[in-house]
Amino acid sequence: MKIVKVKDYEEMSRKAAEIVAERMNAIENPVIGLATGSTPEGMYEILIDKYNKGEIDFANTTTFNLDEYVGITDDDPNSYHYFMDKHLFDHVNIQKEKTHVPSGMADDLDRECREYEEAIKAAGNIDLQLLGIGNNGHIGFNEPGTPVDSRTHIIGLKEETIQANARFFDSIDEVPTKAITMGIGTILDSKEILMIISGENKRDAVTSLLKGTISEDIPASALHNHPNATVIIDEAAWGDN
Ligand code: GLP
Repeated sequence: MKIVKVKDYEEMSRKAAEIVAERMNAIENPVIGLATGSTPEGMYEILIDKYNKGEIDFANTTTFNLDEYVGITDDDPNSYHYFMDKHLFDHVNIQKEKTHVPSGMADDLDRECREYEEAIKAAGNIDLQLLGIGNNGHIGFNEPGTPVDSRTHIIGLKEETIQANARFFDSIDEVPTKAITMGIGTILDSKEILMIISGENKRDAVTSLLKGTISEDIPASALHNHPNATVIIDEAAWGDN
């Protein structure tokens, strides 16, 4: 696992966007795995800027998002479908049919999970998967305890995740308690992984990750087993490590 230490959120976002842009230009039909949350917002802004300057083109790009809440509709401002439209898809020339976000509203959620896996395989697997990290070390919505060989599945969210994500909702009671997420095994199948971490509230997660012990208690630690993973960490998240 390659660790890149940067000064702040701005530098993290710029470095991450540069890596994404480089891969998009190097691969003929790139398949990019996307993440949501506050952390990647700055990176998406820079990617839009690069698109506007003609430095990247999304016409041949296929995307797969990591996860989605169960039980909220695509047009709900708190859905990850909505997030992606707002922060990226609506601003670039990506073909909507080449974007994939799992549906948390499917009648048959198990079937949705299976079909999501099949779609990733049919696209030839993910070339570059972007990741943030939850305060408790989760990746996508793979909470502590999720097996490393898990595939796309439905998961019950931990209390700490519900609390951390409550800031986006009117009240904590509105935060969904379940989500659909790529599994850790699905994520590890990506040819390359880029994780970005910023802010003081991620210090404990960073400490656990840097320890190097691979444990189901810290889902992000599975990245130590990946041959091509980079983690960009800003000073605030780094703390005393
Ligand atoms: C959610 C998402 C994760 C994300 C995490 C941290 O739980 N499912 O993919 O990494 O939040 O989000 P933030 O970047 O807002 O701290």
